[in-house]
Amino acid sequence: MSEVAVGAGRLAGKVAVVTGGASGIGRAAARRFVAEGARVVVGDLDEPGLEALAAELGEACATSRCDVTVEADVERLARVAVDRFGGLDIAFANAGIGTPQRIVDADPDQWNRVLDVNLLGVMLTIKHAARLMDGGGSIVVTASLNAVQPGAGMGAYCASKAGVAMLVQVAALELGPAGIRVNAIGPGFVRTALTEGAFLLPALVEGYEENTPVGRHAAPEEIAGLVVYLASDEASFVSGSLHLIDGGAHTQRYPDILGILDASAG
Ligand SMILES: NC(=O)c1ccc[n+]([C@@H]2O[C@H](COP(=O)([O-])OP(=O)(O)OC[C@H]3O[C@@H](n4cnc5c(N)ncnc54)[C@H](O)[C@@H]3O)[C@@H](O)[C@H]2O)c1
Repeated sequence: MSEVAVGAGRLAGKVAVVTGGASGIGRAAARRFVAEGARVVVGDLDEPGLEALAAELGEACATSRCDVTVEADVERLARVAVDRFGGLDIAFANAGIGTPQRIVDADPDQWNRVLDVNLLGVMLTIKHAARLMDGGGSIVVTASLNAVQPGAGMGAYCASKAGVAMLVQVAALELGPAGIRVNAIGPGFVRTALTEGAFLLPALVEGYEENTPVGRHAAPEEIAGLVVYLASDEASFVSGSLHLIDGGAHTQRYPDILGILDASAG
């Protein structure tokens, strides 16, 4: 593998913040940001995960324990970028969670937690990152295939991701004059801690893969490439869009997760 020197690369000299960066898609993006010449501030609830990533990435990486639903945490995360690295150019608002439940069984507390992390957390990240992007910038938000494709038992998750896809359009409208582009990515099925449980049920993985034209799930590194592109100046005229990255899965149907779970339980 060829090595990319710090200071070279598609994000040379840029400073980025990443939420939910201790694992999965966020961690893969943080690694790629640094490989492309950026310095990165990673926020997450998972403190051991943050420590491990900081040890791996060295001086190009700072961390801040951050719950994206707590405004003071998000404000501090963005501020670390300026205090430590002298500015902020890129924000990757990526932290997200999901809890399957049918609407008829829905627990409002669980519903609210999903909406708080996935939608309020994204709004707070956009807010505090944009305030510090004095020289313009790029904000990338992790939505999902589920922003456009419904999944039974995923009401809170789907609603939050559809909300994020619209929020990105509003943010692009408001922030464009300040030279800030805002885009969402819509990953299909990616193997991360979030989806690890699904891999215990072969029928569930088969359900996803049968409904994905390329016939497989993705690795987080495959998603990070799109994030780097949107964060970089190569995407200088790209704003306000949802960019699906799902192996074509939006052309088919979401697997019947609840049916597969019920069949495996019974
Ligand atoms: N894995 C997939 O198939 C898939 C598909 C589409 C979209 N997504 C989205 O991708 C994003 C990243 O998920 P992932 O698959 O990498 O999962 P992951 O669980 O590997 O990573 C998510 C990270 O977010 C952190 N996090 C959770 N709640 C937080 C909070 N309140 N504040 C700060 N950090 C918090 C977790 O500690 C974790 O490190 C999420 O928004 C998810 O909805 C994932």
